[in-house]
Amino acid sequence: MAKWYENAVFYELYTRRFRDADGDGFGDFAGVYEKLDYLKDLGIDAIWFPPFFASPLRDGGYDIANYRLVDPRYGTMESVERVFARAHELGMHIMIDLVINHTSDKHLWFESSRRNPDGPYGDYYVWADDDKGHAGTRVIFSATEPSNWTYDPVRGQYYWHRFYKEQPDLNFDSPAVHREVFEIVDFWAEKGVDGFRLDAIPFLYEREGTNNESLPETHAFLAKLRAYLDEKYGGEVCLLAEATTPADENLRYFGTDDAPECNLCFNFLLMTDLFRAPRLGDAAEIRQTCRKLFFGLPKGAAWSNFFRNHDFLTLELLKESQVREMLAWYAPPQGMLNGGIARRLGPVLEYDERVIRALTALLISLPGAPCWYYGDEILMGDDPSLPDRDSVRLSMPWDAVERAQADPNSFLNWLRKALRTRRMCPPLLEGGFEILEGGPPQVFAFRRKAPDGQSVTFSIDFATMEYEWR
Ligand code: GLC
Repeated sequence: MAKWYENAVFYELYTRRFRDADGDGFGDFAGVYEKLDYLKDLGIDAIWFPPFFASPLRDGGYDIANYRLVDPRYGTMESVERVFARAHELGMHIMIDLVINHTSDKHLWFESSRRNPDGPYGDYYVWADDDKGHAGTRVIFSATEPSNWTYDPVRGQYYWHRFYKEQPDLNFDSPAVHREVFEIVDFWAEKGVDGFRLDAIPFLYEREGTNNESLPETHAFLAKLRAYLDEKYGGEVCLLAEATTPADENLRYFGTDDAPECNLCFNFLLMTDLFRAPRLGDAAEIRQTCRKLFFGLPKGAAWSNFFRNHDFLTLELLKESQVREMLAWYAPPQGMLNGGIARRLGPVLEYDERVIRALTALLISLPGAPCWYYGDEILMGDDPSLPDRDSVRLSMPWDAVERAQADPNSFLNWLRKALRTRRMCPPLLEGGFEILEGGPPQVFAFRRKAPDGQSVTFSIDFATMEYEWR
């Protein structure tokens, strides 16, 4: 029997821009509550909430100042718990972000660490006397950050950060930091959370002479966290990795049957292939990616396949020539920032519903747990003139949702029907996966065969964007 997450349809709900119940211009949990029936009706099985904790919002909430406090702009803890409880009544699961690579520089741990090096929080962060260490480590937010080190005049030392300088990295060599993480996980699991998206997980550890990504110590920590959760919550609490890494490295985030790590991993490689194939009119890249990624996963592990999220459409995993192609096809006039394109599904594919429907049909037919980004069900717009990633984080236009609901030919209604069909089709939920080789180069076809022998064959032609289930 598959675990709840293995083929669930996830929905990333960016609370700040989803539904504003009290009209203060900031989305809130009371607003989410109003729309839970909408999500259920759309065919959503699990909602993922990016961070809604106390935060200066330097990085959309990924700079957490207190892991146990709900930022009052989103509502009260009670309003969050009401949403969790009602979602569960409706049969939906809840995922939240677990941002443990770093905190906000406004977190009390950091305040205390910089003021009192010998105190209890002195070693919670990565401090050094100079900024010479780990030379050559790439800077991810290179548009704003000249270095991964920033000098702190209070402590008189440099601290390490992989993202904004307002997001100091936690020191995973400190056992106390591990204990804090386990306590945070318990706090939220006890509130009814069914899983955690592991934000920026490749960056937990630093070791001189490496690129400081996906180190063995990071995998050991993930195995420890998974063992803890499995033991305590009977394997029902799920870990979903955000690891934008090449295929081989990404696969390692599932761990092994003996030492499992993450239950789900976002499929970043497939994501870029999905945007490339219709422009190339060729299935070779997708076929190659699926051959690499969809076989030999540990028991209970699955990919979370997706198009878009609250970040840039990242080009990190592509070769230079492929990046050039992507920019020529998809970049807004402003071009690319921090290695990605700030565009949404609808606009990036020029609202071409033939293309979008065919790609969506493929996405939901592959093995795994598709993850949908709020607003993309109505092919909502973006605004690339806005800074950073605000372009893809606009307010959900509920009047447009109502219009789409009333229109039998809308993408929204097509998607809802497609998700229903999937839900009623055992081969698409828990069937095996066999790539059908030997067809024309522009066609990608595969068979999903359920344990009871029923099977479905899906094929898509990237030259014509025709697709079919048989
Ligand atoms: C992840 C998040 C992104 C954030 C970064 C730092 O990549 O998805 O939004 O900026 O981590 O926390």
